[in-house]
Amino acid sequence: MRVYDIIAKKRDGYSLSPNEIEALIKGYVDGTIPDYQIAAWAMAVFFQGMDEEEIKALTHQMIISGDSIDLSEIEGIKVDKHSTGGVGDTTTLVLGPIVAAGGIPVAKMSGRGLGHTGGTIDKLESIPGFHVELTNEQFIKQVNEIKLAVIGQTANLVPADKKLYGLRDVTATVNSMPLIASSIMSKKIAAGANAIILDVKTGNGAFLKDLDEAIELAKVMVNLGDNFNRDTIAIITNMNQPLGWAVGNSLEVEEAIMTLQGKGPEDLTKLCLELAAHMFVLGKKTSEFAKGLELAEEMLYGGKALAKFAEFIKAQGGDATVIDNLEILPQAKHMQKITSLHSGYIESIETQEIGRAAMLLGAGRSKQEDIVELGVGIMIRKKIGDQVTKDDILAEIYYNEDEKAQKVIPIIQAAYSFTKEIINKPPLILKTIN
Ligand code: URA
Ligand code: CA
Repeated sequence: MRVYDIIAKKRDGYSLSPNEIEALIKGYVDGTIPDYQIAAWAMAVFFQGMDEEEIKALTHQMIISGDSIDLSEIEGIKVDKHSTGGVGDTTTLVLGPIVAAGGIPVAKMSGRGLGHTGGTIDKLESIPGFHVELTNEQFIKQVNEIKLAVIGQTANLVPADKKLYGLRDVTATVNSMPLIASSIMSKKIAAGANAIILDVKTGNGAFLKDLDEAIELAKVMVNLGDNFNRDTIAIITNMNQPLGWAVGNSLEVEEAIMTLQGKGPEDLTKLCLELAAHMFVLGKKTSEFAKGLELAEEMLYGGKALAKFAEFIKAQGGDATVIDNLEILPQAKHMQKITSLHSGYIESIETQEIGRAAMLLGAGRSKQEDIVELGVGIMIRKKIGDQVTKDDILAEIYYNEDEKAQKVIPIIQAAYSFTKEIINKPPLILKTIN
């Protein structure tokens, strides 16, 4: 089997056999097939797509390229959540405690932020003392004891994806449905959960801007989950504005605590309750969504989720008094209010630009090795549909260096568009696929 022939076959629109896909991925990972041939194949996939059997074979090869985590020593149905990435997506910090308080084991592996999207690990590390380096035994023991643990990604989970993603990133082939689906699902399946809830973001802060594309991706991923015996549900959610108010690490921890106290932003609260309800159904705690929603509300508004968050922080070495003392979180040196240059109703917010502004302030990384300033970020004070008059406060920035602040103020101001017409608040949850 010549690699040349496999590439040509895909280029001409034929389906590859499982053996051909195996040869490509194995050869790529062991270094016998060079980047340029895999790049050509990825571009052929970009144009020709893949059928269901091919996507399944690719996902399988990605999974077996590295380790799979065995969570079988954890009692109960393990349910994992994945978000396709957004701006100010504080969800995991709130959702984990709600679901764990309701009795579902959450054994979560999370990432650090890169580019305009943040990462849960950075957010958690802004809590003094909190650490994410647990041994496998500690991780499993903690989930059995308190139902919730979060660790950083281990090195050898789906190495084929690390290599392929890096190549796609520089060859304009990231945006291919089968490649995204197999990349995400291989990592979720290798991470060991029995069931998966996917939050597929769509809109100008998301990876897929177009709703139909997001729906198609969600369908492909749900189908893949089923193929690998993972009960999978996807919801499509709106990322045309940042989620909640806070964008930035300790600001988002603060927002998560407020949300767990029942005082958080409406959209973040709603999304967490919705995801939790699906997780209760997937974990067979409740028979139907409506019952799951009731349980989620009980955990949130009855205070059990907040207590769970404190227990979780303590278990991972963090200072749980943060719940009552937000001042112990890293604080930026300065704050400046950003005012509106216009009057009218807010029509849109360039969400990716807000994410980029937060990154430029120091809340995120443009390169893997950048160091995050945990206290800096943006508080969004006006969202789509709000009426503002000139000089009203749109947002606040928290920063350490004046030079960076001066750079982002015009970016944030320009991210907002206004209209004289009344604008309805956009729906948050657009579709459920199962
Ligand atoms: N996130 C991933 O993990 N993989 C992709 O291909 C795209 C987004
Ligand atoms: Ca937020």
